[in-house]
Amino acid sequence: MNFWHGKQIVIGLGGGIAAYKTLEVIRRLREAGATVTPVPTQAALRFVTGLTLQALSGEPIREDLFSPLAPDGMDHIRLAQAADLVIVAPATADLLARMATGQADDLLSALLLARRGPVLVAPAMNPAMWEHPATQRNVATLRQDGIGFVGPESGAMACGDQGSGRMAEPATLLEAARRALTPKILAGRRVVITAGPTREELDPVRFLSNHSSGKMGWAVALAALRAGARVDLVHGPVALPVPWGAVAHAVGSACEMLDATLDVWLSAPGNPRCDAAILTAAVADYRPEKRLNDKIKKEHAFSELRLELTQNPDILAMLSAWTGMRSRDGHQRVIVGFAAETGNALTRGKAKRIRKGCDLLAINDVSAPGCGFGTDTNAVTLIGRDGREEAWPLLPKEQVAEKLIQAVGDLMRNIHTTP
Ligand code: C5P
Repeated sequence: MNFWHGKQIVIGLGGGIAAYKTLEVIRRLREAGATVTPVPTQAALRFVTGLTLQALSGEPIREDLFSPLAPDGMDHIRLAQAADLVIVAPATADLLARMATGQADDLLSALLLARRGPVLVAPAMNPAMWEHPATQRNVATLRQDGIGFVGPESGAMACGDQGSGRMAEPATLLEAARRALTPKILAGRRVVITAGPTREELDPVRFLSNHSSGKMGWAVALAALRAGARVDLVHGPVALPVPWGAVAHAVGSACEMLDATLDVWLSAPGNPRCDAAILTAAVADYRPEKRLNDKIKKEHAFSELRLELTQNPDILAMLSAWTGMRSRDGHQRVIVGFAAETGNALTRGKAKRIRKGCDLLAINDVSAPGCGFGTDTNAVTLIGRDGREEAWPLLPKEQVAEKLIQAVGDLMRNIHTTP
């Protein structure tokens, strides 16, 4: 089921040049299946026209608090109550000030005052205006009132200045909107995720690696972020941008991945403790016995080259062995592994879960159609220490990740409520 399908989104637009970016947000939300009602201020209509907003949203725009077209003259109440989410983008300094002081002298501000559900605000203004103590006071007040903020970002401004004040990009805004609407089953939790391949260097120019794209791990990271977790993403070389809000730890070899994962897992004093590890990385099982400092030369046309390989540490098995569901410090953690199998996947997977000692293992048969490296879908069977065995159908990796995060959340809730 498409996440946005049937969602009602009100988009309030303030009078700022960044309103052009909001047009893209409206277009993409509508394309994704949401119903979008634009509510521009009069100032916003100096930057984008009502016709543009109407054409992109496919809905009549609302701009007049006293519109004779509103059936009961109660647009501000009806819109405030019916929306799943209200987004204000761009939120100008003036609009933030009016929201913070509870003014209600036009449709958008009245609607925001009448709103009880989630509101997401994307500020956009000159850096001096953003940094001004008055704006910062208003932002603090609004945060206290439970308003969510996305951005502003730093960079070059339309006026030529540099600094913080650029409105968040449409993709970021859409992701923030999605997070605002996702139940926070991992709120306050810290999750470490490994993803992608590792690279085991032979010499300065060659390495052993595999075809892992990192897509599954990325999807899991995104699902965990949406569920409210702090995410540490320990990843090998992949061609994907770090998901918004994740703390990325880029590594090369399996040994580096082990070090980085343990660093997060055993978090130094003062840092939040880790609650879950989800290890999706395709870690190379072997590395060259020696990494040569000079490039290996082709000495003779027909001579063979024999590589001596040594086994890499198994991060999943090590983490599980050291941790257990109830560790000595009383902090309960959940460890999840992935198993890419070919043939007899369930039997092999069950044995692997026991061997690796993890709480959950997501098994997938990489030889099945639609599964495996680089695909956007995956068919997973989830098995657990508790004897669970759930076969999920072929699903987009995004949905597999959501179901997995749900399972992790359930397990955490249970271990935290079981004495
Ligand atoms: O043994 P296999 O490679 O099939 O195990 C897969 C699971 O173990 C994955 O979760 C993978 O991330 C993890 N793993 C690991 N360290 C290794 C090998 C695998 O963490 N050296």
